Amino acid sequence: MAPVARPVSRAAGRSEPPAVRIAGLRRSFEGRTVLDGVDLTIGRGEFVALLGRSGSGKSTILRAVAGLDPDVEGAIEVPERRSVLFQDSRLLPWASVIDNVMLGAHAPDIRERARAALREVELGAKETAWPKTLSGGEQQRVALARSLVRDPELLLADEPFSALDALTRLRMQRLLQRLCQRHAPAVLFVTHDVEEALRLADRIAITAEGRIVHDQPVAAARGNPERLEALRLDILERLGVSGD
Ligand SMILES: Nc1ncnc2c1ncn2[C@@H]1O[C@H](COP(=O)(O)OP(=O)(O)O)[C@@H](O)[C@H]1O
Ligand SMILES: [Mg+2]
Repeated sequence: MAPVARPVSRAAGRSEPPAVRIAGLRRSFEGRTVLDGVDLTIGRGEFVALLGRSGSGKSTILRAVAGLDPDVEGAIEVPERRSVLFQDSRLLPWASVIDNVMLGAHAPDIRERARAALREVELGAKETAWPKTLSGGEQQRVALARSLVRDPELLLADEPFSALDALTRLRMQRLLQRLCQRHAPAVLFVTHDVEEALRLADRIAITAEGRIVHDQPVAAARGNPERLEALRLDILERLGVSGD
């Protein structure tokens, strides 16, 4: 008997399996439930910003997806090549910039790749510098180069630009945008900055009460100031910040 053809959705971007699939994520600390059934899917090359009030579980989700939390329950499917960026660059102070970029990465051409990554973040000239001689923004660019050198299919970032001054943050956002266009990793980007989320993300997910309570595409509103403003106000309201 001839096999029966199953209808396959041909919607754009739907034919490939997603990069990340999280289902029923649960986590408690000392009997207190912090994650209570988080479901989230991220497509290949898709940029998802995770917003939510302080303490709503964003970092806990990110750590779980990064594989840094052995005590989390639920299903997490992620690609093998992942990189994580934190608010502080976490550079080793006793290692040069390029050694920091190469740290833990194993490939025969790793030095060349580290050089290329440093050029991409515009720090080609700082290869042999010590981390403490760099500005905060430069240190975060080294951290970005370190994540790029692994050619990640998934980039996880927990408020990576929060400690930077406004101008440096803007530059970093532009740089990240360019790098994401070039390398197209899936991205889960935790931020508390609504503007940053609107600027960078394809989708905004909001955490509250241990779940994702809202999941909103952004790209369609970009380029349309009125729709973007409406979206901004809606997101702010959902975060409990009402306009006056
Ligand atoms: N290691 C831990 N031990 C105890 N409580 C924790 C721990 N990590 C996080 N929490 C608690 O879980 C909740 C969510 O934290 P977190 O994920 O860091 O929130 P967010 O990143 O959204 O600000 C907070 O109430 C926090 O105090
Ligand atoms: Mg956090």
